[in-house]
Formats: sequence, structure tokens, C-alpha cells
Amino acid sequence: MNLKGKKAFIAGIGDDQGYGWAIAKALAEAGAEIIIGTWTPIMKIFTQSWSMGKFDESRKLKSGKMMEYLKVYSLDAAFDKPEDVPAETKENKRYQDASGYTISEVAAEVAKEYGKIDILVHSLANGPEVKKPLLETSRNGYLAAVSSSAYSFVSLLQHFGPHMNAGGSTISLTYMASEKAVPGYGGGMSSAKAALESDTKMLAWEAGRKWGLRVNTISAGPLRSRAARAIGFIDSMIAYSKANAPLSKDLEAEEVGYAAAFLATATGVTGTTLYVDNGMHAMGIAMDSPALIP
Ligand SMILES: NC(=O)c1ccc[n+]([C@@H]2O[C@H](COP(=O)([O-])OP(=O)(O)OC[C@H]3O[C@@H](n4cnc5c(N)ncnc54)[C@H](O)[C@@H]3O)[C@@H](O)[C@H]2O)c1
Repeated sequence: MNLKGKKAFIAGIGDDQGYGWAIAKALAEAGAEIIIGTWTPIMKIFTQSWSMGKFDESRKLKSGKMMEYLKVYSLDAAFDKPEDVPAETKENKRYQDASGYTISEVAAEVAKEYGKIDILVHSLANGPEVKKPLLETSRNGYLAAVSSSAYSFVSLLQHFGPHMNAGGSTISLTYMASEKAVPGYGGGMSSAKAALESDTKMLAWEAGRKWGLRVNTISAGPLRSRAARAIGFIDSMIAYSKANAPLSKDLEAEEVGYAAAFLATATGVTGTTLYVDNGMHAMGIAMDSPALIP
């Protein structure tokens, strides 16, 4: 896969443990230049950790070179325009010194500094009530999950689309809980992922016709990222997948990274959900169920 001369903006990198990082690395391995969008409240810790060498081991590419970035932008994908940011957020100590972090501002700034990009990755999600069952989720919690985790992709595409080269690739990350009940993945997060997958099809049509862009989503298996650890049952999900998926092994973040690099080069593929989950989605029953043990 050759991505030499391509530029990628990856929204949702906060450390070297998640899918966003692995995607950045796979795209860099293929020769792309990397621009990062990091959530405003963790911007300082991310950039400090990078410059202190905390990520050096994970930055090593197969060529022996280190992964570099052109720039890290502070981004809060819950806001589209400066006027959307409420006073209490502006005054929050983790936002006080930050500026230009809404989606429209970041997209305009990237276009001004780097011109057109070729790859846009949405690797972020947030559901403040994710630990609550859907049945107990408040309206605000539900809408916040859909706003940060699904509408944020619509908005990124709206604002980056005019600044992307035709044939460009946009990719989001989804999870099987969109289509099948996964108890514990609450707070409207399952609804947000369902929206993200449905939007993948509609946006593939609209952005395809408008700008010649492609829109795909990767349905990834469980990974012990920071976000997944916060939900609280990630180790059980990894164990469940090993016990029941066709491929009984850990899913490595880089496997999702390579799938994203593939999508970036797959010029005929759009509107699709690509499963990178050791085949778990193909199963209809749990093989380790006590009911099946003779
Ligand atoms: N880890 C898993 O098991 C798993 C499985 C399937 C899909 N996914 C999806 O992969 C994507 C990446 O998550 P991850 O698990 O790699 O965890 P992660 O913690 O590495 O990434 C999530 C990122 O979202 C950022 N974020 C949250 N709210 C934001 C906002 N308003 N604006 C900008 N950034 C914001 C966080 O700071 C974090 O960096 C998410 O969409 C997640 O739902 C994860």
C-alpha cells in the first residue's frame, strides 16, 4: 500500500494505546504525512508525553524511522463553531488557554496550513452515561453520546470535505453493539454507533457525488484502549471474543490500522462497514455457553 504524497488528518489520538494511534502508524508506514486532532482537555498531556519520549517505543516504524506528525491540533468534536461553546466550557481550566478547537476552525486552519488532505479519520467517541443501561439513560446523556460520537463525523466531513482531494478516503470506527445487543454498552452509545453506520451509507452517496470522496467505517473488535477501559468490561469482552470468535486470538490495534490503510487505497470501496474483529460478527451463538456443553 503506497500512500506517499498523501496527507491524513486523524481525529481522536490521546495516547499510543488506541485505534487512532495504530491507524496513524499504519498510514505513516505507507508513506502518508500525519496531522493529529487531540481532544482539548488532554492536549497538553499528549504533547508533553510525546516530547518527553513516552511514546518513542510505539513511534518506531518498520523502516526504523520514527513516526512524526506535521502538527497536533486541539479539537473538541462536540462543537462545530465558536458560538456553540458554552461559557462553562470556555471557563473550564482545561479549555481556558485553548482556542480554535471547534470543528470548523480546525478544518479551516488545516486547509490554510497544509492545503488539501487525502484521508480523514474519525477515531473518537464519548458517552457520559455509557455505564448506564439504555433504559436508564437521560435525554441529555443520550444526545451527548450521539453528538460526540456520531454527529461529530457528519460535521468533520462537512467541514473537511471541501478541503479534500477527489478520491480521498474518510473512515470512522464503529462497534458491533450497533446491530446486536451488547449489555453494558449503554448510555446511547449503541444508538450512536448505529447512527454512524447508517450515516456511512448516506454520506457515501452525498460526499461521493459532491466531492468524489469515499466514506467507510471499520467495525472493530475489543481493544484495551483508554476509552474502552473507562467503560469497565473490556477484559471480559476480549476473553469472550477469544472464546467465541472464529479466530481465537487477541486483536492487535495494528490489524485495524492496516485495514484503514487498505481502505485509504481501495478506490472502489465506499459506503461499507468493514469488520476487523477476528470474525466475531459472523457468529450467531456463543460457543462457550454452558447450554452447549454436553
Ligand atoms: N476499544 C474498543 O474495544 C473499540 C471497539 C470498537 C470500536 N471502537 C471505537 O474506536 C474509536 C477509538 O476509540 P479507542 O477505543 O481506540 O479509544 P481511545 O481512548 O484511544 O480513543 C478515543 C478518543 O476520543 C477522544 N475524544 C472523546 N471525546 C472527544 C471529543 N469531544 N472531541 C475530540 N476527541 C474526543 C478521546 O480523547 C480519545 O483520544 C472510538 O470510536 C471507539 O468507539 C473501540
